[in-house]
Formats: sequence, structure tokens, C-alpha cells
Amino acid sequence: MNYESLGPAELRHADSIKWIQYPEEVIPMWIADMDFPVAEPILAALRERLTRPIGYPMLGGDPLLIRQIQEKCASQGLTDIPADGIAFLPGVVPGLYAGVNALSEPGRKVVTMVPVYHPFHLAITNLGREVVGVPLLDSGSRWEIDWDALDAACADADLLMLCHPHNPTGRVWDADELRQLRELVIRHDLSVISDELHADLRFTGQPFEAFAADERVRSRTVTVTGPCKAFNTAGMGIGALIGHDAELVKRIMTKASGLMGHPSALSITMWQAALREGGPWLAETVAYLRGNRDFMTAFLRERLPWVKFYPVEATYLAWLDLRGHAQAGDIQNFLLNEAKVALHNGPIFAPDEQKPLYQGFVRVNFALPRPLLQDALERLARALA
Ligand SMILES: Cc1ncc(COP(=O)(O)O)c(C=O)c1O
Repeated sequence: MNYESLGPAELRHADSIKWIQYPEEVIPMWIADMDFPVAEPILAALRERLTRPIGYPMLGGDPLLIRQIQEKCASQGLTDIPADGIAFLPGVVPGLYAGVNALSEPGRKVVTMVPVYHPFHLAITNLGREVVGVPLLDSGSRWEIDWDALDAACADADLLMLCHPHNPTGRVWDADELRQLRELVIRHDLSVISDELHADLRFTGQPFEAFAADERVRSRTVTVTGPCKAFNTAGMGIGALIGHDAELVKRIMTKASGLMGHPSALSITMWQAALREGGPWLAETVAYLRGNRDFMTAFLRERLPWVKFYPVEATYLAWLDLRGHAQAGDIQNFLLNEAKVALHNGPIFAPDEQKPLYQGFVRVNFALPRPLLQDALERLARALA
């Protein structure tokens, strides 16, 4: 695939929020979608599907897609997922909300690590729960869990929300961290929502291990996932809430029934095609993204050595610490105005009282053609010089 076939002229279309949010001269590297064409087998399946009427899909879940997801789950350690342990969603975020709504009580504590993908803390607070954000620690070589703080936070909570791989730090929790997390949720008798949407975008070379891969935490965990990050199909909207305990999945979905909506017929066709034939495209895309990550790492080391950044293990999102800069107090606006590069501002990744901790950080989406990435990095280097 030619990852450099699309330029700003093709990308700046009216229904791309990423490209039309800011003026034409800005390179957008904020919201998480990729500036690459969709895999040809997905396009072919969609074209074929459009030759037939678009009636209601199988509302209880498409049996073929359920089987494909069961197979995919098994490859990540989630063996024996029952067919009725897979519920379809119109996106992953509705699954976060449905999970919080059913697995915690109003006014009670829900724990997550911060910084974190903002709908995590928003789901908790919007639903009237108390968010307890446990800041990740900067070990000097990667972002790590503060075990003592997490243990204390969990003492009086209902639910832990895990982002694995973690957006925005790009960590993939390793075997030892997963072991400790599992022991912790058993010790505190917590339910767990594990968002594993970025699992296929890994650069570690290691197989992915789902949080619920360990039998001891199966019955207390639901996993939410979907095709939209790996296959760049966010505008189609589909996801799944997956659990070994079908009764638990049913309880979550019943509380949201009628509010949730069902995924579109086209998104079902898309996910089927992605799982059936998307492997080669995905492998190529991960290799290109790894190239971008390495290019960016080398650029930052050479041109902006004071910027703190750990090469991500997964995702196409980099978490940059720019607190050393004089404009750190308003860094997102500064870079928008001076470099004409749009980034996500660090504070959005934390609940209100913890936002000051992340002032001076930015999240950078590096899933764009490399010449454009280079242009953006040059602009950032000039503005930050
Ligand atoms: C961790 C994580 N979960 C969920 C989503 C959004 O998923 P959806 O668009 O399917 O709701 C994102 C998007 O960036 C994400 O990073």
C-alpha cells in the first residue's frame, strides 16, 4: 500500500473533523485516526454489500462475526468466550459508559490510571460516580503504575477501568504488571473494564495478552474492543463488549438497552472483512507506523533533546513532556499558532482536579504520511527552538 498517496488536498474533506477543525495551513495531529487509505479487501466487501438492500442487520449479533471475534479473542488469551458473551456496540465509548453504569453505583469510586483517554474519566463523572485517577509514574525510561497509590485507591472502589494498550502513553502492560493488576482486583474484589482497542497496533513483537486471559479474573472483567483503530474505520462506528460471563454482559447491555443503538450493516461487513482478509494490510501498516515512531524518536533526540518522550510500545500516539519550555503553560495554543500544528492538550487526559499535572504535555498522532510528519516535526522544532 502507498502510505504517502494522500496529501492535505485529499485529506481535507468536509466530513473529517481532524482536517477541518483548524485552518488550512495547520497540520492536524490530534484526534486518533490515520491519514492512510482503507484496506482494499474492506473496500471490496463494502462495494459488494452496497449491491444489496441495507435492511436491519442481525440485531442479536451477526453469527459469522461472533465466530470471527471468538477466534480473535482466543488468539489473545480470551479462550472460551461464549457466543452470548459478545454484545455489539455502535462504538467502544458506549461500552465504557454502559460498563460504568452497570458495574458501579452512583456516588461510588471508580479507579483509573491517569493520564488516560478522556472518555474514561468523563464516563465516570458524567454518570455521577467519583473518579479516582492514579497518576502513572515516570520511571525515566517508561510510564509505570504507582502500585502503592493504586492499591490505596482501590480500597474503597467498585470498578477499575484499564486501558491496555494505554492511550496516551503507548504502554502495553507487561506480564508482570498484568499479574499484579489481576492480584489487585481480586484482593479488592473489583469489577474491571479493559479497553483493548489498540491491541493490534503493537511494536513490541510480543503476542498480546488480554487482561482477562487469566482464569482468576475472567468472571469479573469485560473487555471492550473494535476494528476502528487498527483498520482506520472510526467513521463507521462498531465495537463489542466481551465477557466470559454472559450473564454479566447481559446485565450491562440490558441497563443500556434502547439507549445504545445497534451497529450499522456496513460496519458489520467492514469488521468481517477486516478479520477475514485484513491481516496483510495491518502488518504493513504497523511496520509503517513503527517507521514513523522511529523517525520521530530520532528527530526529537537530535533536534529537541530536552523533550521527554518514551518511544511507544503500541498505538500511533506519542505523549510528549514539554514542561521545560517557557510557553508550557499554554503549549497547545502556542504550537497551534506558532508551528501551525494541532495537537491534543495534555490536561484533557485527566479529571478536573488533576488537569494541572498535565499542563505542558501534548499528545501527538503520528499516523500520517512520513513527508507530512517530517514537515510537522520541523515546524515544531522551529517553534520550540
Ligand atoms: C482507548 C480508546 N478507546 C475508545 C476509543 C474510541 O472508540 P470508538 O470511536 O469506537 O467509540 C478510542 C479512540 O481514540 C481509544 O483510544
